[in-house]
Amino acid sequence: MQDMSKNMQVITGAISREDWALVEKTAPLIADHPQPPMFEKMRIFAFVNTDIGQFKSHDGKTHEAARILGVTAATGDGHAIIADFATLQDTCLMCHEQFRKPFQAYFYGEE
Ligand code: HEC
Repeated sequence: MQDMSKNMQVITGAISREDWALVEKTAPLIADHPQPPMFEKMRIFAFVNTDIGQFKSHDGKTHEAARILGVTAATGDGHAIIADFATLQDTCLMCHEQFRKPFQAYFYGEE
């Protein structure tokens, strides 16, 4: 997740400088981000097992939105790139709204 955040910041900066090549290079890193270690994954899945389908669906939407952003970045159409970036951010938010709070409350005792 930390890498996701870093790559999103790289893209925000690249958009400000109209550096579409950097957006194109960075978006696939979000789309193809490495799977968490198996142990961590099992803990997550054990926790979200009732909503596993939804969790996977959110994950798939983020990957797809990042992939599309990479494709659009190659066209150099700034407005379309920004729209696709917003769509990508929306997919992060949708999963976080549903899973981040209960996940943290469960594993770290936070509200
Ligand atoms: C499939 C669900 C899902 C998607 C999609 C998702 N996240 Fe997360 N994210 C989580 C969960 C669950 C947590 C809480 C994990 C924790 O606190 O250990 C989290 C936590 C975070 C955090 C808090 C810091 C951290 O390392 O825990 C950041 C930053 C973050 N996500 C960034 C992103 C970004 C950026 C995207 C979109 C590109 C994204 N996430 C997409 C599920 C998701």
